[in-house]
Amino acid sequence: MRTILVTGAAGFIGSNFVRMLVSRGVDARLVALDKLTYAGNLANIADLIDDERLIFVRGDICDAELLSGLWDKHGIGEVVNFAAESHVDRSIMGSGPFVSSNVVGTQVLLDVARNKGVNRFLQVSTDEVYGTLPEDKPEIKFTEQTPLAPNSPYSASKAAADCLVRSYFHTFHMPVLTTRCSNNYGPYQFPEKLIPLFVTNLMEGKKVPLYGDGLNVRDWLYVEDHCEAIWTVLERGRPGEVYNIGGNNELNNRRITEVILREMGKSWDESVQYVKDRPGHDRRYAIDASKMQRELGWAPRHRFEEAIRTTIRWYIENQAWWRAIKSGEYLKYYQQQYASR
Ligand code: NAD
Ligand code: TYD
Repeated sequence: MRTILVTGAAGFIGSNFVRMLVSRGVDARLVALDKLTYAGNLANIADLIDDERLIFVRGDICDAELLSGLWDKHGIGEVVNFAAESHVDRSIMGSGPFVSSNVVGTQVLLDVARNKGVNRFLQVSTDEVYGTLPEDKPEIKFTEQTPLAPNSPYSASKAAADCLVRSYFHTFHMPVLTTRCSNNYGPYQFPEKLIPLFVTNLMEGKKVPLYGDGLNVRDWLYVEDHCEAIWTVLERGRPGEVYNIGGNNELNNRRITEVILREMGKSWDESVQYVKDRPGHDRRYAIDASKMQRELGWAPRHRFEEAIRTTIRWYIENQAWWRAIKSGEYLKYYQQQYASR
């Protein structure tokens, strides 16, 4: 039986990915490795922890000894690397953990995989490595040929990791694959990101902080479509290749806010607070995912109008999950991030 090491499996996308594989009855053992940082949460995979296909290990991808032990004990054949610091605002507060987990972590994981052997190594990256696009040229989108031009410490650390992954293909012929996806939304997303932050703030009777003029554009993709794309690339992608993944669903932050307010029966005037913009705030992201469609037959299945409703309903029905998070350390972060805006 194949054994897949899934790092960052207790985070937002990683937990959705392992849930998808388990619920499909995939013929594989999943070694779910996670450091359980502030963003990692065992509650995200609590329903899977007793499944015999899943082995959870708490640990850091920077720990070569621990990783070597996983290869020796479980015979890892494939790697899907989700583990990362993932929030742009936190990278602006301090980039140290981003360089450590995203750059050094990826390098250590690559080295152990190279030394121990691996059949596939999939690096989960982001469209943010390409930088920003002009809003007045809708015909321009990120393709796999777009040069890397990261603008935040987060995206810079992800771009550095992508470059390392690329170099291990060219130098060592490692069977690596890289996916670059647009903004995800769905269940289990940490409530520091736009959609879960706004939904949960409204449930708490708080205002939602809209950065700048609220006209920054993102290409929103439902998390299950991203997980399906990653699985498709792991199964059938060509080693050494990069695959862009996107929702073909560009929306600005005002529009996202309007949709959330409408679904939650709130008015703009009572609920929205414009706040100081994020430094270096990328204006627009848009993905050309035609390579995924052409070469691997993947396309998003979920329509935004329905999937955002499903997402909002999930946060309404799972208040214990996010209320436990939005206390303690989170309050300190919220105060630091939003108090002076
Ligand atoms: P997340 O912050 O919800 O989860 C990250 C997980 O990684 C957490 O469980 C955390 O504990 C774990 N982790 C962090 N550092 C670690 C380390 N050194 N060792 C082991 N585990 C560690 O993030 P997410 O939104 O699920 O993103 C997952 C991946 O997908 C990231 O690599 C991110 O760059 C990428 N990505 C995210 C999006 C998005 O919209 N969320 C879009 C494109 C790509
Ligand atoms: P975010 O969810 O942080 O994702 P990313 O920065 O990686 O795209 O932010 C999505 C968009 O929402 C981005 O343009 C910044 C904006 N935003 C706000 O307006 N207010 C907020 O409180 C947050 C967290 C984000």
